[in-house]
Amino acid sequence: MKKIILLGPPGAGKGTQADLICNYLKIPKISTGDMLREAISSGSSLGKKVSDVMNSGALVSDDIIIELILERISNKDCKDGFLFDGVPRTIGQANLCAENNITFTTVIEIDVADEIIIDRMSGRRVHAPSGRNYHVKFNPPKQDNLDDVTGEPLIQRKDDLPETVKHRLAVYHDETLPLANFYKALSLQYFKVDGNQAVDSVFNQIKDGALIH
Ligand code: AP5
Ligand code: MG
Repeated sequence: MKKIILLGPPGAGKGTQADLICNYLKIPKISTGDMLREAISSGSSLGKKVSDVMNSGALVSDDIIIELILERISNKDCKDGFLFDGVPRTIGQANLCAENNITFTTVIEIDVADEIIIDRMSGRRVHAPSGRNYHVKFNPPKQDNLDDVTGEPLIQRKDDLPETVKHRLAVYHDETLPLANFYKALSLQYFKVDGNQAVDSVFNQIKDGALIH
């Protein structure tokens, strides 16, 4: 059974690879980013609380995140494994997971240099209800600006402005990258992949390196 964390900077391709991995392993994707965006678009009290923080590129507090994932992981679709996309992303969240008996088998780190990220983000388009990601140049939808599965329109994320992306990258280096050493020190599978390759090549390397054994 695989219980996977996808680690990587904003725009590394976590969401893109998460969909491929989850489809391959038939496990659910748990993306705190998608869950929080859903809360914002539904106008819930959680959404109102996190909207400014997210749009600024800062991190939502650890207690909100742990509450979200504890509730989600209690769902029975998680009993045969799951993939966490972009969570935990602080040492505090990693400790809270451990304290709440959320354990992992595998960490997959997608490595992409900061300069490449800024370029990628400006071309990203998202199908908001599912979190499916496209890129106008590198991963275009079959029909311009429409989701491949539902045919619904795609949107651009508010936190994809270049200045906000720079801030998200700084937050990643300060708060999230320390998790690499945190998890390397534990006895779980740790696989690092170069994310600056075509989407299919990245996936094939993840499959060979982390999914089939
Ligand atoms: P979240 O939604 O998780 O965003 P992120 O980590 O910043 O990452 P992204 O979703 O922007 O990028 P990605 O790695 O998924 O890349 P993608 O596949 O889309 O979080 C957003 C915010 O929510 C945070 O800033 C924070 O405020 C809050 N939050 C969420 N979780 C939290 C937590 N645990 N704790 C605290 N706060 C939290 O790809 C990017 C683009 O590149 C796409 O256009 C894609 O098509 C393209 N692309 C993908 N792969 C390739 C490739 N190989 N080559 C070329 N292009 C590619
Ligand atoms: Mg994502």
